[in-house]
Amino acid sequence: MRKHFANILLVFALLWQGAAQSEENANPLVTVYKTPACGCCEKWIDHLRAAGFTVEAHDQANLDRVRKQLGVPRKMAGCHSAQVAGYAIEGHVPADQIKRLLAEKPEVVGISVPGMPVGSPGMEGEGGQAYRVFAWRKDGSTAVFSVEQPRTR
Ligand code: CU
Ligand code: CU
Repeated sequence: MRKHFANILLVFALLWQGAAQSEENANPLVTVYKTPACGCCEKWIDHLRAAGFTVEAHDQANLDRVRKQLGVPRKMAGCHSAQVAGYAIEGHVPADQIKRLLAEKPEVVGISVPGMPVGSPGMEGEGGQAYRVFAWRKDGSTAVFSVEQPRTR
């Protein structure tokens, strides 16, 4: 009887560990701030959800204040701002680069695709060129995080 009880405890311990692990592996929540009428922002959100992220979107008339709060420099500005696991995500950053950021955990404030390059996720179309994802630090210094090929769809 006692052995039986020990086995039950073991099963519970394994289940609990399994639950904790799957929680760790799940992509954390992405909180997005965008202007109310931004269509490409919606498409970028769809791209993140398709990649397995849970996204919470908030409409905001003025994103400058959000960028200030998140520590996004003016030169890094895109059309929407987001936050995930303490990092800032600015503009049309591909979901796989967000996953890389979360896996590698570099000492940066965030990553950005400045402007709105054609061919970035949410901005798919013909005639796009290779574009860069930048990372920036608290002191304002930036570095290329990745080089991305444009997508037509
Ligand atoms: Cu956009
Ligand atoms: Cu946007």
